[in-house]
Amino acid sequence: MLLLDGKSLSASLKEEIKATVEERVSQGFRPPHLAAVLIGNDGASETYVASKVRACEEAGFASTLIRREASISQEELLEIVHQLNKDPQIDGYIVQLPLPAHIHADTITEAILPQKDVDGFHPVNLGLMMQNKDCFLPATPKGVLTMLERYGIETSGKHTVVIGRSLIVGSPMSVLMARNTNPGNATVTLCHSKTQNLAEITRQADVLIVALGKPGFVTADMVKPGAVIIDVGITRVEDPTKKSGFRIAGDVDFESVKEVASAISPVPGGVGLMTIVSLLQNTLKAHANSLGI
Ligand code: GUN
Repeated sequence: MLLLDGKSLSASLKEEIKATVEERVSQGFRPPHLAAVLIGNDGASETYVASKVRACEEAGFASTLIRREASISQEELLEIVHQLNKDPQIDGYIVQLPLPAHIHADTITEAILPQKDVDGFHPVNLGLMMQNKDCFLPATPKGVLTMLERYGIETSGKHTVVIGRSLIVGSPMSVLMARNTNPGNATVTLCHSKTQNLAEITRQADVLIVALGKPGFVTADMVKPGAVIIDVGITRVEDPTKKSGFRIAGDVDFESVKEVASAISPVPGGVGLMTIVSLLQNTLKAHANSLGI
C-alpha cells in the first residue's frame, strides 16, 4: 500500500515555490503578496488562515491578514474587497469561508476581481475551468490533481468516483477528472446524499475521491481491491486525550481501507497540506501575471 504523503510532497513543492520566489526577487521584482480576510472567530477558520499565512512566510511571500468582527456589515466587507481589488501590491487574496449568516457569500465572491481570485471560486474562473482555459483552479481539487500527478497515478480511462458535490471540492473535482488532461481523462461518477446503492458504485471505483465531511464514512467493504483512495475530509472530532480537546478526522476509515487500497492519502497529512500549496501556486501565478513576467 502506497501512502500518498501530503506532508513530504507539500514540503518539496514549497521548496520549489520558494526557489521561484528567490529567483524573481533576485531579478529585482517584489515578492508575491497574498492577503487573507478572516471574519469572526470560527476555530477551524482561524486554524486554516494561520496555516496559510505561515506557508506564505515559509515560501518567501509577503502576507497580510485582515481580521474583522462577525458583526461587520456586508457593505463594510465589500469595501475591503474593493480596496484589495485596487491595491497593486496585492497579487491575490482569499475571503475565508464560511461567512456569518447575514452576509451573502456569493455577493462577496463575485466582487473579488477574477485576476486576484486565488481560491478559484469566482464564476469567471469556474467558467474558464469548464472550458479548459487558463484560470485559477480551486485550491483543494487542484491539490488532489497535483498529488495524483506527482505520485504518477494513472487516471486515463479509469473510473473515478467522487463522493460529495460541494462547489468548493466535489463538483469541480468531478469536472477536472473528466477533462482531456493528465491527470484527467477519467470516466467520472459524482455521488451525493441522494445517491442510491452508494457502496455498489464506490466498489467500481479505480480512484475514489471522498469529500462529504463525515468522519470514517468510507469503510473497506465499499472499496475495490487495489483502488486509489483520496480522502478530502477534515472534521474536528472531540477527543479528550488531546490538549486541544479534538482531533482531525478524514472521511475514510483509514485502518480498514488501507488493507484493501493500493494507495491512500491520510488525514491529517494528506490533501489538506496540498490545498495550501495550491493556494501558493495560484498566488505565484497571479504575481507573474500582475508583473507581466
Ligand atoms: N473554507 C474552507 N475551505 C476554504 C478555502 O479553500 N478557501 C476559503 N476561502 N475558505 C475556505
